[in-house]
Amino acid sequence: MKKIGILTSGGDAPGMNAAIWAAVKRARSYDMTVLGVQDGYRGLLERRVEDLTNRDLSDIMHRGGTFLGTARCLEMLTEEGRSRAVHNIHDYGIEGLIVIGGDGSFRGAEILSERGVPTVGLPGTIDNDLAYTDYSIGFDTACNTAIGEIMKIKDTMTSHDRVAVIEVMGRHCGDIALTVSLAVAADYVLLPEVSYETEYDIDNLSHFLLNIKKQGRDSSLIIMAEGVNWNEKNRAEILMNRLTERTGLDIRATVLGHTQRGGPPSAFDSRIAILMGVRAVELLKEGMGNRVVGIIENRIVDINIKQALDMPPRFNEELYGMARMLSLS
Ligand code: F6P
Repeated sequence: MKKIGILTSGGDAPGMNAAIWAAVKRARSYDMTVLGVQDGYRGLLERRVEDLTNRDLSDIMHRGGTFLGTARCLEMLTEEGRSRAVHNIHDYGIEGLIVIGGDGSFRGAEILSERGVPTVGLPGTIDNDLAYTDYSIGFDTACNTAIGEIMKIKDTMTSHDRVAVIEVMGRHCGDIALTVSLAVAADYVLLPEVSYETEYDIDNLSHFLLNIKKQGRDSSLIIMAEGVNWNEKNRAEILMNRLTERTGLDIRATVLGHTQRGGPPSAFDSRIAILMGVRAVELLKEGMGNRVVGIIENRIVDINIKQALDMPPRFNEELYGMARMLSLS
């Protein structure tokens, strides 16, 4: 294999640049040419590529975001778009493609593989919602960013004897919410994996907050994943209003939003991004396509794309149980 392509797709994630840097370096060591595709599959369809082979990316690799740009490309869902993508890949002489993104991006990669383009996916999403890997690139950084912001909010909430409702990202997956809730000693965590209606009965939650106050603590902290009541707009505010109505407590809502997606990658994210970038190129060099790279029990692994996408969502019940136990005791 002499020429490969690389693109980032879907929501950006800190560490994507480190993965690209590592892939380019590894490819260079094999005398491969690397074409970077701008703005994900959209750039592939619009023929926007740049030669990265001799570009020095060392000043970029530790920055957040993705210097290639990213997009969510609906055209890849159409037959016309898919054929054009394959046509352009062949036209550029790209013999293998690395796709960094989440499950939507992997579906595109799977289709290209089915059409004869050896493709390797790297998990790049802060949500950590890919079941086949313990961690995706960007998740650790997003958690650390959220923790930093929440600690600041906690300072002011404590000073004012207030309750904080803080919404973090995670549309289908509560991993960010669960991890940060443990790290900041939150009093309550609301996750999309756990039914809002049954587990988070508003009266129960109200009693819980009043109980905390009765025990002598005037400030408390609720973390909610955005995937909880996803269809509602202003979720955190709605919860704040409902709780204020029932408890009379002084409550403030904050949505952390896209701050969680930016910033330089943590050491952990840089490390897995680099290891995965290197593995992706090695797989292509060995003639292996139709794979996704992940990390399981601290080892870099690769598995078939379809197998990875077919895995049911995972939920760490044990960790959730522990978070509940710690907040209730
Ligand atoms: O998939 C990552 C993610 O950050 C989700 O947590 C969030 O729901 C979504 O992307 C936000 O997407 P956008 O950047 O399009 O607003």
